[in-house]
Amino acid sequence: IVMPYNDLAKSEELLRRHKSEISCVIMEPVASALGYLPGDIEFLQGIRELTLELGIILIYDEVQSFRIGPGGAQVEWGINPDLTALGKTIGGGFPVGAFGGRMDLMEMFDPSQGGAATVPHAGTFNANPMTLAAGQVVLEQLTPECYDRLNSMGNDLRMRMQIVFDELEVSACVTGVGSLFGIHFTNEKVVDYRSMLRGDQDMRKALFLGLVNEGVLLQIVSAGALSTVTT
Ligand SMILES: Cc1ncc(COP(=O)(O)O)c(C=O)c1O
Repeated sequence: IVMPYNDLAKSEELLRRHKSEISCVIMEPVASALGYLPGDIEFLQGIRELTLELGIILIYDEVQSFRIGPGGAQVEWGINPDLTALGKTIGGGFPVGAFGGRMDLMEMFDPSQGGAATVPHAGTFNANPMTLAAGQVVLEQLTPECYDRLNSMGNDLRMRMQIVFDELEVSACVTGVGSLFGIHFTNEKVVDYRSMLRGDQDMRKALFLGLVNEGVLLQIVSAGALSTVTT
């Protein structure tokens, strides 16, 4: 079941109608594919309240949004999902994936309490020491000051891009949060996948190719992220 992003009423209707078939809701608090569009706070809080009421596990994919603050979007906005998926930054440049959350759920993966885990989680690269060492170093380098600087550069960039588009009378809006940004060639407010797709996709391709010719590699969907200096 696919729920429409930022549409609480429709999502509520779907969740209530299908509650007996749904074990979990998995979502990004910042929708990467929508130009890093942060979910409306009422939508995110509403989904949290509904999933608690209906006994549905709420899983946040913070693989990308974890970079907006030391605890990701969930800490920034004070919403507690039941489980969280992480990747990217926590690997310090090495391939990584991780998940964690509610104690009673994580205990099902724990083989240390005598006997096998309820849900075995074996893997060739689990707890890879090289990845974890690199990830730890990067996370230690990402001090609160570092996040503040990155995020204020992101705010500045988004604002300045919008000013440039307005000055050039190009119909465009810039979305994003923290160090993340996305560009949509539309006058309409982008709130979900459909409103994003109504933007001019040819302009996106033209921007992508134009920037490649200038030596700048943006994501093909005209989105990107600022980073610290990495050597
Ligand atoms: C938001 C988001 N979730 C999940 C993934 C998948 O992560 P992985 O490549 O570690 O499977 C990605 C990868 O780009 C992502 O951007």
